[in-house]
Amino acid sequence: MEDLPYSQASENNREPILAVLREAFAACTAVLEIGAGTGQHATAFATALPWLRWQPTEHPDALAFLEPRCHAFPAPNLEAPLALDVCERPWPVPVPDGVFTANTLHIMPWEATEALFEALAAAAPGTVLAIYGPFNYSGRYTSDSNAQFDQWLAARSPHSAIRDFEAVDALAAGAGFALAADHAMPANNRLLRWTRS
Ligand SMILES: C[S@@+](CC[C@H](N)C(=O)[O-])C[C@H]1O[C@@H](n2cnc3c(N)ncnc32)[C@H](O)[C@@H]1O
Repeated sequence: MEDLPYSQASENNREPILAVLREAFAACTAVLEIGAGTGQHATAFATALPWLRWQPTEHPDALAFLEPRCHAFPAPNLEAPLALDVCERPWPVPVPDGVFTANTLHIMPWEATEALFEALAAAAPGTVLAIYGPFNYSGRYTSDSNAQFDQWLAARSPHSAIRDFEAVDALAAGAGFALAADHAMPANNRLLRWTRS
């Protein structure tokens, strides 16, 4: 197992995220995870939230990164990983009553975030959307470490950046999602939760 793709950040944020998702997805039946990375969240959350069917997905270019851990840690409610680029149309998977994505909005281009919400507009009323990551508020960083992280992102790709909460919430509102909660998380991250009206 030692050579499985691994993210220390995912290891660190797993339990705080799980504590919120346990309540957020309590009444859901299935979760679509977008940009599932190494699969550390998917494998842990499927086991910890056994009433949910957990569908991990990744951009086609990174699917090979996700698959090994999902195969190494199977669970009865963990679906086989699927390729999903949020920009493709139509999405190759249905949108269930729960959607989760972590640390993706600051990586993908803003146009991809727009495409994500455009696709989620088709979700059924009551669908719960949970997005974890760093966000700016009123155009300001919430910490020096986030400001440094944003500089690092910009040097890595001109398309990546910490997003403004207000801009993301406006996209969500446009897709029919009402903000239900904004949870402060460790390391200056947030877990934003919306419900499809
Ligand atoms: C920083 S990683 C986060 C991975 C994982 N969710 C975690 O928290 O450890 C960002 C992920 O976003 C994915 N991603 C980027 N653009 C995407 C797109 N257009 N559609 C789906 N996933 C995308 C990348 O492949 C990458 O795995």
